Amino acid sequence: MKVLIAPSILSADFAALGKAVADAEAGGADLIHVDVMDGHFVPNLTMGPPVVRALKKVATVPLDVHLMIEAPDRYAEAFVSAGAAMLSVHVEVLPHLHRSIQYIKSLGARAGVAINPSTPVSSLEEIAGDLDHVLVMSVNPGFSGQTFIPRSESKIQAVRALLDAAGNPAPIEVDGGVDASNAARLVAAGATILVAGNAIFGSADPAAATRALRAAASGILAR
Ligand code: DX5
Ligand code: ZN
Repeated sequence: MKVLIAPSILSADFAALGKAVADAEAGGADLIHVDVMDGHFVPNLTMGPPVVRALKKVATVPLDVHLMIEAPDRYAEAFVSAGAAMLSVHVEVLPHLHRSIQYIKSLGARAGVAINPSTPVSSLEEIAGDLDHVLVMSVNPGFSGQTFIPRSESKIQAVRALLDAAGNPAPIEVDGGVDASNAARLVAAGATILVAGNAIFGSADPAAATRALRAAASGILAR
């Protein structure tokens, strides 16, 4: 399966998001990852549907929207009509996960579930066959620039095994502390969507950093 690079604009200059998207796309980004935070589920506030709508106007690749919010069911429609092609919702806030996933699909978006570092893979057991993707958090959600949690690598392997057992080829997305030093290992573990904020927009040349991450992911030593 092709590895997709999903730069996270959380690390970009919010006064120049159009340029951030253009830079990432110039470097070959496959998706633009958009982190939505509500100040309740995570201790940070970021952006909402109007920003997604503005990004949709300038992005040529699909928008991958990660909802770190307490009430994703309430806002899913607004994000999909604003232009989200993929929506990830957190299992930790959803008592009726099956219903939520079906709802997102009915809106016409790819429906995925995100799991925090302390959330067991078994929380996905009953829903594994229904998911369009799984997002494995490899830091505690809320901020860019945190250190990758090593255990996430074996967690990705376990999620892959669970999806395979359900006969579901859905991709696994890894998010948090991803950079050129760990990309190849994460792909080997089973991740095929690499989200990266700091590694791309913390760099002086985000296009080159996007290319470098792809090269690292394919095991080629990045210059
Ligand atoms: C963290 C977000 C991530 C974040 C990744 O809560 O979900 O998408 O932007 O940033 P880095 O790659 O810097 O860890
Ligand atoms: Zn994210």
